[in-house]
Amino acid sequence: MEHILEVKDLSFAYQGKPVLKDVSFSIDKGDFLGVIGPNGSGKSTLIKCMLKILVPDKGEIRILGQDIRKFDGWSKIGYVSQKANSFNGDFPATVREIVGLNLIARSGIFGKRPKDYGDRIDDALIKVGMQEYGDKLIGRLSGGQQQRVFIARVLVSDPEILFLDEPTVGIDANSEEALYCLLARLVEELGITVVMVTHDIGAITVHANKLVCLGEDGFVVHDIHEPLTEEKLSKLYGYGVRLHGHRCHGCERNQGGAPC
Ligand SMILES: Nc1ncnc2c1ncn2[C@@H]1O[C@H](COP(=O)(O)OP(=O)(O)OP(=O)(O)O)[C@@H](O)[C@H]1O
Ligand SMILES: [Mg+2]
Repeated sequence: MEHILEVKDLSFAYQGKPVLKDVSFSIDKGDFLGVIGPNGSGKSTLIKCMLKILVPDKGEIRILGQDIRKFDGWSKIGYVSQKANSFNGDFPATVREIVGLNLIARSGIFGKRPKDYGDRIDDALIKVGMQEYGDKLIGRLSGGQQQRVFIARVLVSDPEILFLDEPTVGIDANSEEALYCLLARLVEELGITVVMVTHDIGAITVHANKLVCLGEDGFVVHDIHEPLTEEKLSKLYGYGVRLHGHRCHGCERNQGGAPC
């Protein structure tokens, strides 16, 4: 069966400075892929190549069965960028308006709302547990709540793959854990495929089933069922990485057998 996303021998350089070199991996429907690695290792660059924001110098990307160069199913792809949750308190839009933006944009006729506009917004807000906040101004919510709204905004168009680039930056530990649980639930209950860049090695190894680690000397694809050692990670990061055991209080997932 064809993979939902396949990256083969991907290389990318900024003005001749190599960032990604011969990166290859694949994921299937319902996978939760974590992308980790030190600052500057190319995580965001990799995400941007998979979203066709950047064009690789070499290699192939296939997404939902099509070569990315000819891919026309972008409405099935959701993207939550790192800076998504930075609205100030006076931004004059409600949560429902923010979530509905994607529906209006995709309805084809500028400014026209689809018939099921309200229901789809309700649905998306329920999925992220923000149904009580629909009429609140987006800027008056906490960073973690705003992050949920931005996930609702991409869920409203029923994406098959959801890309998130460091969505937990600037939110507290509880909200971060809640976000991981929410993503794990979207994977398990809705069969959405998640690709997430993060620096939180402890939490991602609990929730993801696959990891791509970008490092100084290349990259490693790791199946979470095998133990991930501190030695392996430290070699990749180029400095000593401590792998603390992690227990998610939201969904009671444990990091099995990891060193503390
Ligand atoms: N537009 C650009 N032009 C030139 N170099 C860039 C550009 N964007 C990123 N780089 C460089 O490419 C390398 C990889 O950047 P990238 O943003 O992909 O790293 P990252 O792994 O996402 O880092 P972080 O963890 O800090 O977000 C870095 O050395 C960075 O300085
Ligand atoms: Mg980045």
